[in-house]
Order: sequence, then structure tokens, then C-alpha cells
Amino acid sequence: MATTLISGGTVVSATGRAAADVLVDGETVRALLQPGSTLLGADVAASVDRVIDATGKYVIPGGIDGHTHMQLPFGGTEASDTFETGTRAAAWGGTTTIIDYAVQTYGQRIQDGLAAWHEKAAGNCAIDYGFHQIVGDVTSESLLAMRGLPEEGVTSFKMFMAYPGVFYSDDAQILQAMQVSRETGMLTMMHAENGPAIDVLAQQLVDQGKTDPYFHGIARAWEMEEEATHRAIMLARLTGAPLYVVHMSAKQAVAQVAWARDQGQNVFGETCPQYLYLSLEEQLGSPGFEGAKWVCSTPLRSRAEGHQDAMWQALRTNDLQTVATDHCPFCMKDQKELGLGDFRKIPNGIGSVEHRMDLMYQGVVAGHITLERWVELTSTTPARMFGLYGTKGVIQPGADADIVVYDPAGHTSIGYDATHHMNMDHSAWEGFEIDGHVDTVLSRGKVIVDGNSYLGAKGDGRFLRRDLSQYLV
Ligand code: URP
Ligand code: ZN
Ligand code: ZN
Ligand code: ZN
Repeated sequence: MATTLISGGTVVSATGRAAADVLVDGETVRALLQPGSTLLGADVAASVDRVIDATGKYVIPGGIDGHTHMQLPFGGTEASDTFETGTRAAAWGGTTTIIDYAVQTYGQRIQDGLAAWHEKAAGNCAIDYGFHQIVGDVTSESLLAMRGLPEEGVTSFKMFMAYPGVFYSDDAQILQAMQVSRETGMLTMMHAENGPAIDVLAQQLVDQGKTDPYFHGIARAWEMEEEATHRAIMLARLTGAPLYVVHMSAKQAVAQVAWARDQGQNVFGETCPQYLYLSLEEQLGSPGFEGAKWVCSTPLRSRAEGHQDAMWQALRTNDLQTVATDHCPFCMKDQKELGLGDFRKIPNGIGSVEHRMDLMYQGVVAGHITLERWVELTSTTPARMFGLYGTKGVIQPGADADIVVYDPAGHTSIGYDATHHMNMDHSAWEGFEIDGHVDTVLSRGKVIVDGNSYLGAKGDGRFLRRDLSQYLV
């Protein structure tokens, strides 16, 4: 197998940074070396097959996006990125692992839902991938089937307090699933919004002729996120289940997570770049139907109310532990447009899988988080939470050589025509200018992005059988 030396860079981990050369042997990291080390008297650089010059650059573990929805059927259509296009876009942006959500739909067996997801992904991914399991129909049969998931390498499942009639579970169902979570050690992931109440509010708005995308954000009030988050926390407390609240956007809901953690409960929170940068007023409230580009749930929140600043603060203080994208892209044409005249029919989701590492690096540039925290939020903690740490999430001997060379002096312009590789006819991030650039990406030792060239291939990515975690992040 080929050997590669990544030389002259600053290797960054969740706990520090150091000038070091990274020796990659085949698919794994062999050693971190003092810059310019010799081996039996000879320069290491002279004895490897390839040297990547990382002078002046950061060498970081590849990003782990713990929340994506490739090819998700939703609202009468399907998320526009396939596993092929979505993982390629992820690679371009320095993400080398995704964890996608396999879906059990209403009336379906969990085993069949998981098998269908394997079929979609197998042989198509550019980078390694794992699955969480969406449990969309809690029955005595599915409660039994859930117990078999860890054996399949799926150690977490998501439930929905939102979307009645689709993925929704009531409190009785959630309680029973959490009991399984407690018994098996699987992580309960929660979409925490009070769906039944939101649906009433949404109907009332539509009855008043308030049908624009903006009203999606009004119907899905922060009170509905705070309430559901609190309810999920109390059910988790009662059952002893570890709880991970996904795509958090309301500062009041994050305060609930912080409160639970202060009680010593194993509760964790995830936010996404859209909740750090975008808002109800500026994006969702765009003129006409434009705002549909930013319809997602939980919704973008009011900047006047200070949610975005609160999310950054929570990331800094570890009240929130991870940043994923909730990548769920839909084109405007024929997809988002299904909701012309009724915001309830706009498929929910934003595409960001390509931009997470860049967008979060801007938090370093702006002084919200440290370089180390950037790595921790985007790679190390997802690896720990989701049972991948050691092989993923860190550059150390024996780890998979999933490595990004990031140039802090580079620049990335985000936009539809210019730069993005996601299968979308627009970008939710059009016009964002990034100080920084993903220069080189290695996936298990193979260079898949080299400057402006893409060298990866579909089928390079493998399914990751994940371990149970202790959830003590
Ligand atoms: O709007 C969103 N978040 N779409 C994806 C499905 C989900 O709830 O995560
Ligand atoms: Zn959700
Ligand atoms: Zn999601
Ligand atoms: Zn580039």
C-alpha cells in the first residue's frame, strides 16, 4: 500500500495543536512525527510514495456529519441528493463521514426500512457512512426489532414529536422506545417540536390567508420547541435513556438541555449552521416565495430575539455538543414549489453538507470558538457520540487516514453557479464568503480532493458498523 507524508502543517485535535508530520500507510495513520524526522538516517519524506506539503495549513481529522438525509422521501417528493451526489459534495467540503437516517415508515418493518437504506447507499458513496434508524411506527413488533439494531451496527434511533401522520410518535410510544434505549444502551435522538399543536397553528394561519414561507416559522413557534425538548428530557429522565436532541434552534430549548445536563442527565444537543447564521426575518421572510429555500424544521429563528448568538454561546460553553447539517436538499423547481400558496406543503430541508466545515471555521475566524473546538464540534464529538472514536474523529496511530488539509489563508466563495456540488438548483448559502479553503481531503488514505480536482469514486465509501457509546461527552 502507498505511503504518504503530510508535512509541515499544524495538526489540530480537540485538545490541542502541534507542528507535526503525519505518516499515512495505506488506509491508516502510522505515526505523527517531528517535522523533518529521519528514519534509519534517511529523510522520511524521501522514502514515502507521496508528500503533501501542508506548510502554513491546518491538518485536521475529516469532518463527521452526524445528520444527513440523502434520498429521503418527504412531502410527496424525495431529497434531491443521492448517496452518490451527496457524499461527493461532502468530500469537496472536507467531510469524510456521514451518518444518514434510515427510515422506518408507518406500517413498515424496521428491518425492511434499514435494508432499503443499505440498498440506496451500497456501492454509491464516496466516503464512509453509517446509519441512525428513524423509528416511524412504534408497535410491539418494532420495539422488539429495535433491540436487533446494535448487532447491525446501528446504535442510535430518532423519533419525532413533530409531523403527525408521518413520522410522529406520541408520548406513550416515546416512553416505550426510551425503555429500549435504556436497556440496550442505544442513543435516543429526538426531533423535539410539539407537532399536533403546530399543525393547529399552521391551519389557523392558512385560514387567515397567511400562506407564505415566512409563516412556517410563525407556526413552529419557539415555545413548541422548548416544550417538546422539556418533555423529551423528562421522559428520558424517567426511563434513564440517553437523549440527543437534534437540529436545535431555539435558545429556550437549549436552556432546557443545559438545565438537564446540570442535573447530571445524559442529554446532548446538536445545532446546525443554518441556526447560527440565518434568520426568520432575513431568509425565511424573503419576498414572495423565495423564503421556501429556507423552510426547514425546526425553523430559522428571529435574530431580534437573539437565538443565533445564543447558539454560538452554547457551542462555546458546551451546552450544545455537536454541529451537523441536517442536510435535506430540495430544488425550488418541482420540489419546494409544491408549497406555492401553502407553506405546509413546502418540503422541509436545507442543503449544507458541503459547507459545514467552512461555515464552522468562520466561527474560529470570528472568535466564537477555538480551532480545537471547531475540530471537536465537527469531528471528534460526533465520533465519540456515535461510536466511531479512535478510527474516526482523531489523527492518531491506527486511526483511519481521514484527513483534511485546510488553508486558513485560502478563500471559498459559496454559490450556486460558482462552486457547489450538491444536487440543487439553488444554494441556501449563496453569497457567503469564507476565509479558509479545503485544499486536500484524504479518505482512508486515498486523496479524493486535491485542490480543484476530484479524485474520489462512488463505491469508495464503506458502511460503518458503529459501537455503542457511553454517552459521557
Ligand atoms: O427540515 C428538516 N429538518 N428536514 C429533514 C427531516 C428532519 O426533521 O430532520
Ligand atoms: Zn427532524
Ligand atoms: Zn433531519
Ligand atoms: Zn476549492
